[in-house]
Amino acid sequence: MNNYILAPSILSADFARLGEEIASVEAAGADWIHVDVMDGHFVPNITMGPFIVETCKRITKLPLDVHLMIEQPERYLEAFAKAGATGMTVHVETCPDIVATLKQIKSLGCRAGAVLNPETPVGAIQPALPEADLILVMSVHPGYSGQHFMPEAIAKVSEIRKKLNALRSSAWLEVDGGIDAATLPKMKAAGATAFVAATAIFKHSRGPRAGIEALRDAIASSGGE
Ligand code: DX5
Ligand code: ZN
Repeated sequence: MNNYILAPSILSADFARLGEEIASVEAAGADWIHVDVMDGHFVPNITMGPFIVETCKRITKLPLDVHLMIEQPERYLEAFAKAGATGMTVHVETCPDIVATLKQIKSLGCRAGAVLNPETPVGAIQPALPEADLILVMSVHPGYSGQHFMPEAIAKVSEIRKKLNALRSSAWLEVDGGIDAATLPKMKAAGATAFVAATAIFKHSRGPRAGIEALRDAIASSGGE
């Protein structure tokens, strides 16, 4: 496994050719496939559910990194686990007892992630830190791909990196939103270890393979891998 994870978000893939799109990022060396689940309540958009996760599972051997932008995620964890999710990441804003929800994810045999929105303070994720296998920091307001990177997220990543190190946690520190070859090195320098990108990969002018290569180069040229 790479030290730094690249997780293409299929939100910007061409769904008429989903199999080919996933095969091309897999061949180009993507580490995980990121699946953005939206319910039209927690976020304005509606996207995909367990059926698409199950479809991805048949298409690829890569781990499926399922980002749940839904109210009451605990109602759906079992369905996503059955569909083939490798990891499930829930928003602290939707979980009155984030530790219990992370434990529920682990009991289903999945990697347990906690995510916070741009306006949510780091303190809100504090109780999750000892339990989480992954912490995700949003660098856009969730709902759509193709939005501008919010630079305020950089300081948040640094702060969480310090807290994870103090706990000697080996959790992934993932970032999502506006990640491209220019913003990735800033997040990496702040301590991020996993990078989600939709537009920079699937809408790259020379195709998704070139998108993956550009981000892999950005990781390598900023040192570390
Ligand atoms: C946003 C989603 C992201 C999105 C990223 O709500 O969680 O995963 O697909 O898209 P880009 O990389 O285009 O910002
Ligand atoms: Zn996402």
